Amino acid sequence: MKSITVELADRSYPIVFCPGLITGTTGAGQDVLAVAAGESVFVVSNETVAGLYLEPLKKHFGDRMLGAYIMPDGEAHKTLDQINAIIGALLAGGHTRETTLIALGGGVVGDVTGFAAAVYQRGVPVIQVPTTLLAQVDSSVGGKTAVNHPLGKNMIGAFHQPKMVVMDVETLKTLSDREFSAGLAEIVKHAALADWEYFQWLEANQAPIMDRDSACLMAMIEWSCRIKAAIVAEDETEQGKRALLNLGHTFGHAIETLSGYGVVLHGEAVAIGLMMAADYSVRSKALIESAPEQLKQLLTAFALPILPPKGLKKTAFLQAMGRDKKATSAGLRLVMLRDLGRAEVTSQIDEAALEQTLDRFLTDR
Ligand code: NAD
Ligand code: GLY
Repeated sequence: MKSITVELADRSYPIVFCPGLITGTTGAGQDVLAVAAGESVFVVSNETVAGLYLEPLKKHFGDRMLGAYIMPDGEAHKTLDQINAIIGALLAGGHTRETTLIALGGGVVGDVTGFAAAVYQRGVPVIQVPTTLLAQVDSSVGGKTAVNHPLGKNMIGAFHQPKMVVMDVETLKTLSDREFSAGLAEIVKHAALADWEYFQWLEANQAPIMDRDSACLMAMIEWSCRIKAAIVAEDETEQGKRALLNLGHTFGHAIETLSGYGVVLHGEAVAIGLMMAADYSVRSKALIESAPEQLKQLLTAFALPILPPKGLKKTAFLQAMGRDKKATSAGLRLVMLRDLGRAEVTSQIDEAALEQTLDRFLTDR
């Protein structure tokens, strides 16, 4: 069984690759989840994923599974109300700090469950079992947990590392095409910010990736997880290098917040945000002019949008960007591209370039 360790001293944990474990198509690695979970298990999922995978998951725990909370589906439910409901269910079930929470689902379930685990009785263990591509390559790894506030995405949260991440690539076979593509946006982000060789590999493997070839997906997920694990190991709480993982996100979060949570998918907003960050990087003379076109071609091949929805206003957009967590008291911070495969964080904002980027993407259409 393949595994990658996220190296965080006494909070290190494995990302374990177990194809077929959750879908129930193979028993390989069966014990890994059961052993890590311990004697008392509480599962959080949503109505869609629970319908697909809760029964096969339950088999791993038998009578050690002492409860479940099934959320409504969607980004619009990434709220404090859901945290309250999960905590209510845990208290009603008499759960102590011995209970391990299992997050079975995409990034929404993972972020909500992780945050509930961070705050329930000042912290209980959580195992992430991501079932979307986006969650497998990004949100399940690194311990960022959060819910949204109407005024800003992920504005209420905590760092709470999981005890383990268990990947079953076979769960991706039931994902819609749109959600699959949304996951590819975070993958392109990883390549663009950290690894030119990976970017070229993605370009060369577009067809098997879009066909969801299991071996190809495994290789891709592993590559992305290695990039993310290395950055998290170096800078767990985003004091420096980890901010690079937010490439495209300052623009993307503004798109999500202003469009209404769930209208533009997070990965779609990241794809558009990558294009905006690349455009800004060219305008502020950090990036060669041909790079955005190359990025656009890859995003388009992965069926991702490259322009924000119509009707977003520049003033509101700038405000939403300023509210992003990457903004410091000194002002806005942006992740810009230096090259395809290399990014840097800057607080030296070229205001004219930023205005031009916003004009191009928001109003000149
Ligand atoms: P999601 O959790 O909403 O899942 C997408 C959709 O796919 C949902 O309708 C879900 O029910 C469905 N689904 C999940 N697994 C499925 C499966 N195997 N088969 C069929 N349907 C399935 O969205 P997402 O894209 O996974 O995650 C987005 C969220 O992740 C955002 O809230 C974003 O902010 C967060 N995020 C967090 C981090 C982090 O570091 N914590 C990083 C990136 C993104
Ligand atoms: N998705 C950004 C991070 O994990 O830091």
